[in-house]
Order: sequence, then C-alpha cells, then structure tokens
Amino acid sequence: MSVLIKGGRVITAADDYVGDVYVDGERISLIGESLDVEADRVVDASGKYVLPGCVDPHTHLDMPFGGTVTIDDVESGQRAAAFGGTTCHVDFVIQPQGTTFADALDDWKAKADGKQLIDMGYHMAITDLRDGGSLEELAGLPDQGVTSYKLFMAYKGALMVDDETLFRSMQVAADSGALVMVHAENGDAIDVLVKEALARGETEPKYHALTRPPETEGEATNRAIQLARVAGSPLYVVHVSCAEAVEPIAIAREKGWNVWGETCTQYFFVDYTFLERPNFEGAKFVYTPPPRDKANQDVLWNAVRTDVLSAISTDHCAFSWDGQKTLGRDDFSKIPNGGPGLENRLHMIHEFGVRSGRLTLNRMVELLATNPAKLFGLYPRKGTIAVGSDADIVVFDPDGKHTISASTHHSNVDYNLYEGTEVTGTPEVVLLRGNVLVENDELVASPGIGQFVKRARFGEELKAAAAIA
Ligand code: URP
Ligand code: ZN
Ligand code: ZN
Repeated sequence: MSVLIKGGRVITAADDYVGDVYVDGERISLIGESLDVEADRVVDASGKYVLPGCVDPHTHLDMPFGGTVTIDDVESGQRAAAFGGTTCHVDFVIQPQGTTFADALDDWKAKADGKQLIDMGYHMAITDLRDGGSLEELAGLPDQGVTSYKLFMAYKGALMVDDETLFRSMQVAADSGALVMVHAENGDAIDVLVKEALARGETEPKYHALTRPPETEGEATNRAIQLARVAGSPLYVVHVSCAEAVEPIAIAREKGWNVWGETCTQYFFVDYTFLERPNFEGAKFVYTPPPRDKANQDVLWNAVRTDVLSAISTDHCAFSWDGQKTLGRDDFSKIPNGGPGLENRLHMIHEFGVRSGRLTLNRMVELLATNPAKLFGLYPRKGTIAVGSDADIVVFDPDGKHTISASTHHSNVDYNLYEGTEVTGTPEVVLLRGNVLVENDELVASPGIGQFVKRARFGEELKAAAAIA
C-alpha cells in the first residue's frame, strides 16, 4: 500500500514547508515538491498541516489503582488517542510487590494483546527490589526495549519507594542506559497531612490539594535531582505542576545536568478552584500532583516555551466519576487519583499554545512528538516526518471546529476535563505506519494493528541521528 499526501504544510520540530510526502508500506520514502509518483491512495492536504503522529510518554491504561481499575483499557484508551492525533504512547507497567519484572511485563503485554490500535512501549514502575525484582533483572530490561524506570516518591503504603530503592535504581540506570523517571512528591509528609486533615473531619475533594502543598513537590524534585547527580543517571521528572518544582529543574538544566521535565495538558487549564465545585464534582479533578493555584499556569507556559520543561504528556489515568470517583465521597483520600486527557492534548495545546501565540507550531510538535520520541528512544522512527521514519502522520485541519465533550469523545470515561471548550484545529486523517486509522471522524482500522515498540537506550538513537546529520 502506498499513500501520497499532497500539498500540505509539513511541520516538524525544525521545518515548515509546503510539500508532498510519499509513503511506501510502513515508512516515509520520499518528500519533495510536486512529487511525480503513483500511489494507491492520494490524500489532498492543501490548506492542512502535515504533522508527525504525536507521542504521549505518560499514560496509564488498564491499571489497577486506588481500589479500582482505570476505565480505559488499551483499546478504548488508544481509540481516544488515535482520534486526538496520538499514534504512539509509553504506558507504565506497575510491578506488583513480590513480583518479578518479567512477570509484570508479561501481564501488561497480555492485557494489550489483540487490542492495540496505535504503537506503544512500556516504562517499568519499580515498587519492590527486595522480594520482587532484583537489581540484576532491572539491569536487563533495556535489552527487552524497556529503557526507562519509574519510581513513585509518593503514594505511601501503595506505590511509594524509599530513597534506597530510588537511589539503587538510579545506580542501575547509570550503567544500563535507562532513563529514570520520578513522580516527585514527598509521600511521608503528605501522609501526615492527609491523616491530620481526616482527623479534623476534612473529607471533601479540595483537601486532596490542601494536603499536597507545592513545597512537597519542590522538595522531592530537588531530592531526585541531587540523588541522580550522585548516581550518575539521567532523570526525567513527570507531571510537573508548580513553580516549586520548575525551579530546581531550571537550575539543573542551567548547570547542564542530565535532567528533563514534563508537564501535562491539564496543569495549564485546571486550577485549584475546580476542586471546590459543589456536589462532589470536584472529584473529577482529583489527580496527583493536584491542580494548583492559577498563577502556576503562566510559569508552566513559560517553562515549556523556554525548554525548562521539554515535553507535554497527558498522564491519562481515567476513572469515571459515577462509581469510581464516588468511592471517595466521604473521604477524599479514597478518590482514585487520575484524570483523562489522551484525546485532547493536541486540540488544547494547538488552541491555547499556538493560536494564542504562546508557542510556535514547531515548538508544539517538539513538545508533543519529537522530544518525547527523543527522550524515550523512539526517534527518528517516531516523532518526526523524515525519509525512513515510520509513516505516523496527522493531517491536521487548522480551521476545523471542534467542541470537546464527554458526549462525543472516544474514551470510556464519563466526563471530560475540558468539557465545552471550543477549539479551532483538529486532526482530519491519522495514519499509523502508513495505515489510515481515523478519517471523516471514523475509526477505520481494527484493533491489532498497533504494535509493541522496543525502545533504544537513553540517548542511543540521538547519537545515531547526529551521526547521520
Ligand atoms: O493522579 C495521577 N496522576 N494518577 C496516575 C498515577 C500517577 O501518579 O502518575
Ligand atoms: Zn505520578
Ligand atoms: Zn501518571
């Protein structure tokens, strides 16, 4: 099967030109002006943007958490992703305590089997190095294409690890070529604050934020940075939400240390006051770190613009309000933590980043596709439009109107964080390795088309790309 995408405005992290993109099989094989080639399928992209498929480096599909399981499994989550122009994501395998990494990875792969609509890789979330996985086993994961380790510094009594586990994992990563990711919050301090709040009878959703002050995120971010320095490992701080966490990352990057950070779409738009919504509606916005005071939103826009933060993910971890979030109706600490967003990252960042003049189109592509691909060993296969890259392509209509709503979105979740938001600019045709996934607002591919992607060790594909350039 060959596809010719004709006359679109091709936008990568570095380029912006009008041209034709020819796809032969699964890869891009030719790019040029007015290409004189025959193709099985011609897509007229005049007046449209031709973007690389977006890469979401942070999702949780079919994940047991908070006494329930996320409402989106691989099929429904990836369906939502495809409609939103995301063609590859990296999900978290959560190692159950007492389980080996191999068993955990097998379980996660089995959950995805036959359901995949887009390509995906895995990070390994380490919870137990004593009775479960060993340091030796951890060191072997990059050979299987799992080239990032995630550690939770919060969620005491559940996923949280102690500093010894964090530091030993960093030491392994320094040798094995993995990238260490941290959920940076001080879980011990938060646990005290949560217990105190509940003892005072403070049970509503807003106390989720009030017991996780931004200083606890700032402290843990700085601790992780300093420990990674000692261990000699690269570090990626996930879901940065506030100035207190941006600051230590900015300092580290200024010094040239191997530290990167991401924020997530929701932190630009949802602030603390959303948690105060009456009738338990605030529970829709219970995710971690929590929505912050609005002043942080400008800090985050500035950080993504200036490369203090290098990626925008979704942290899609969807729980329906009815029946799942309501588990915590009488106790905010029992509300499953997580929010949806896989479908709307490109919509929201294009509208409020690019159209509002905060980001260039190139920078948007860099934040949503190229940098996640580079940092997580997928580049140049993913994250750009270049000869030899996978033909993961979004033909994006910059004038297409769309109103975001739970009544039309493709996730299983019963609410949308951005309900009613009107955006101009929407994916029109989405291709995965040359196969049309979405067209005319319809899913035209079947589950099973997506693949597990083995990712390169941290920095390896970057070195290879630099050698070619
Ligand atoms: O609330 C969130 N973010 N849930 C997903 C797990 C995590 O902390 O990333
Ligand atoms: Zn987290
Ligand atoms: Zn997460």
